[in-house]
Parts: sequence; C-alpha cells; structure tokens
Amino acid sequence: MAVDLLLGLQWGDEGKGKIVDVLTTSYDIIARFQGGPNAGHTLEFEGNKHVLHTIPSGIFHPKAINLIGNGVVIDPVIFKKEIDNLAPYKINFSEKLLISKKAHLILPTHRLLDAASEAAKGKAKIGSTLKGIGPTYMDKTGRNGIRVGDVLSPDWEEKYKRLTQKHLRMLESYNSSIEYDLDSMEATFSESIKALSKFKLVDSEQYLFEAQKKGKNILAEGAQGSLLDVDFGTYPFVTSSTTTAAGACTGLGVAPNKIKKVFGIFKAYTTRVGSGPFPTELFDKDGETMGRVGNEFGATTGRSRRCGWIDLVALKYSIQINGVTQLMMMKGDVLSGFERIKICTAYKTETGIMDYFPYDINSRIEPIYDEIPGWEEDLTKMSKVSQFPAKFQAYINYLEEALETPIKIVSVGPDRKQTIFR
Ligand code: GDP
Ligand code: IMO
Ligand code: MG
Repeated sequence: MAVDLLLGLQWGDEGKGKIVDVLTTSYDIIARFQGGPNAGHTLEFEGNKHVLHTIPSGIFHPKAINLIGNGVVIDPVIFKKEIDNLAPYKINFSEKLLISKKAHLILPTHRLLDAASEAAKGKAKIGSTLKGIGPTYMDKTGRNGIRVGDVLSPDWEEKYKRLTQKHLRMLESYNSSIEYDLDSMEATFSESIKALSKFKLVDSEQYLFEAQKKGKNILAEGAQGSLLDVDFGTYPFVTSSTTTAAGACTGLGVAPNKIKKVFGIFKAYTTRVGSGPFPTELFDKDGETMGRVGNEFGATTGRSRRCGWIDLVALKYSIQINGVTQLMMMKGDVLSGFERIKICTAYKTETGIMDYFPYDINSRIEPIYDEIPGWEEDLTKMSKVSQFPAKFQAYINYLEEALETPIKIVSVGPDRKQTIFR
C-alpha cells in the first residue's frame, strides 16, 4: 500500500499526462489534487491522441478508479465536454470516476472576472488561460465559494444567484469592455450542472482513507508545475493553487507521512506558456527549433510555448521543495541534432552569483551555462537504455549527478510505448 505523487518540476507541460497513463497499470486509484481546466494533459496510444483537463490521466485503463479531489476546481461545462469526447471509449464512468463533494465550482462569472482582471492589468497580465481559476480559488479562500456538493442542496439556486450577483457588481467596478451573453452562458452551465450531478459525488478523503486501509495503491497526479506554485513559483506570474507536494495533502486529505515516492518530471529543456520571468529563455534559432521539433503549443489554449535550455538552479529548487525521490526526463528526442547542449548551473544577478532560486527572479538575471556536446541520432525508435548514444547518456549522467537524484524514466516520444525505464 502506498500513496505516490507525480509532479511537474518546471512551468507545466512536462508530460505528466503521458507518464500517469504509463504508470496507471501499477495503481488502483489515480487522483487529481489541484488546479482545474487550466491543465491540459496529453496522452497518446494506439494512434490516438487525447487531451484531458479535469479528468485524471488514468481514465483509459480498464481497472483504475479516477478521482477528482477536493483541491480541484471544476468547470461543469468543460467537464461535460471532456466526458462527451470520451464517448467512443465506452468508459463506465459510474464505476470509474469519483468526484469530491468538496471540490469548488467554476461559475460562468468566474471566467468573466478572470478576463476582466487580465484586461485591467494590461502589459502586466499573467497570461492566464482565462478558465476562471484565480477568481474561483479567491472565492474558496474568501469563504464565498460554491462546492460540488451544493448542487444537491435545496438552496442551490439561491447560492448560485447570490454569488453571481456579487460577481456582476465586481465586474462593473472593473469598467471593462469585455462582451458577454450571460443568459446563454448560464443555459449551458445549467445543463452541465445537471450532467455533473449524475456522477458519483463522494466524500473523497474518506474514500481514500478507506482505500489505504484496504492496501490500495494510489497515485496523486499534479497539474501545472512547481514554478507556477502560488507560494514558491515566480509570483505573481503563477497559478492560484499549491502545485507542490504539500498540495496533495490538502487537495486529497492524505496525511504527509503516507506519501512514499515523489516522482518529479521535467523536460530535457525548459518551456513556459504565459507571461513571467524565464532566465534561460531563447530568442534565437535554437529556441525556435525546440518549439518546432517539440511541437510546443499549449494543450489548453494553443498558444506557442516559450522555449529555453535546461535550468538546474530551478530544478534543484523544485526537487528540494517537493522532496523528489526519483526523476523522469521527457522529450530528450527533441534535442537530437543540436551541436552543443547548454546547461544553466547558476544565475548572475546584480548582487552576485546565485546557485539557488532567489525571491527576485527578474529579466536582468543572466544564466551561467556549462556546455556539453550534443548527439545526432534519432532517439524516437529506441526502446532500451543500451541503444542510447554515448553523448545522450552523458547528458543524463551529468543531470543525475548535478541533481543528486536518480533519473528512472527517459521518454523519447509522445506515445505510451516511447518510454524507457532505467
Ligand atoms: P502535461 O501538461 O504535463 O501533461 O504535458 P502536455 O500534455 O501539456 O505537454 C506535453 C507534450 O509533449 C504533449 O504534446 C505530449 O504528447 C508530448 N510529449 C510527452 N513526452 C514526450 C517525449 O518524450 N517526446 C516528445 N517529442 N513529445 C512528448
Ligand atoms: P498543465 O497541467 C502550463 C499558466 C498560464 C499562466 C499562469 C496562470 O497542463 O501543466 P491560470 O489559468 O492558472 O490563471 O494561469 O499559469 N498555466 C499553465 N502553464 N501548463 C499548465 O498546466 C498551466 N496551467 C496554468 O499559462 O501563465
Ligand atoms: Mg499541459
């Protein structure tokens, strides 16, 4: 029996969906613990490609139970679309998908407030996915939110109206020019709430507690990445949830001493979508090549992702905060053909050289790079470590030594099968 945890160590989109799908065969329960439809987790197998936003990435496996925890924020409209898109797979959702009654709901007006808040920030905008994440978590911590369990309550309509009225007054104060048709948004929302209320709505912390007593294996699936964490990320250019290991405890009700392995997942380079500091960002041909070969477009918004070299200062910080026990390196295949590979080992700042992630990550930070030779070979057809070119193996060894953590999985392509265990 164990609760293991899988987290992104960079700014999201590390490949969490793919690896959760691969690991699901070893688990009974896959549980999302934070974030909402700002996430886009991509899975590829048997020639199919899927992007999941709210539903955990174990859903395609015949046996695993998938649980949406209390720490998640759910937009019923997006959730219903996700469910409808899965129709061809004939998944028995009434058995395989559980939703916490304590998860908070994203209302149509949360999305409007997100848009108005971003518009008001002008150039300083966060680059939010505009899914209503910030306003929904604000209502949660402000003790005004509406939870999934409320949809079953007789005063649901009244709760909904009260909060929506409040949001509309706030929207007026933004004086924003965003246009919307609330009646039509509410009609779709109302239909989606009806659909949501038919799912298995549970006291998920109790369910997980009993599952642990029965010896079930649980994998907690993180969304976003550690550098987007509301406390430890590049604030204010972050999301509104705890994306780090502690978020699994509050987002599922799992006690810290029950967590065993912490899988930290990272790309062989770095990407970021949205605004905010990114010390190793490239604005040259190399960055353009990473984006093109790596197909770096947001799975939720379609925006192009900013690309740059790997950043060990940031990775060490994420490993430290999360207590990562083993690493998974994704997208090494994308770096094939680069003559030299750069590795950021420290930052040059106005106050000197720093080898840890400081409070003030800003655009004046200059990365200090080490360089190693690149490799030519295409990795995507490889299935064993022994097939790796020596120079790629040297890159893995370099990272393992510098990060003082073993790299247990190397991914060489988007498909389930392109996953190599070490
Ligand atoms: P997530 O949000 O962490 O689940 O990651 P995303 O799905 O947003 O982005 C990862 C992208 O990289 C997806 O398009 C995956 O299909 C793709 N991908 C995952 N692993 C690999 C890999 O090893 N190589 C390549 N080339 N693509 C990968
Ligand atoms: P997955 O789970 C990458 C980014 C947004 C924006 C900031 C705040 O697929 O890795 P929000 O919508 O939360 O208010 O946006 O966070 N962001 C992500 N970037 N992957 C994600 O999720 C992200 N979820 C949010 O681009 O910069
Ligand atoms: Mg993603």
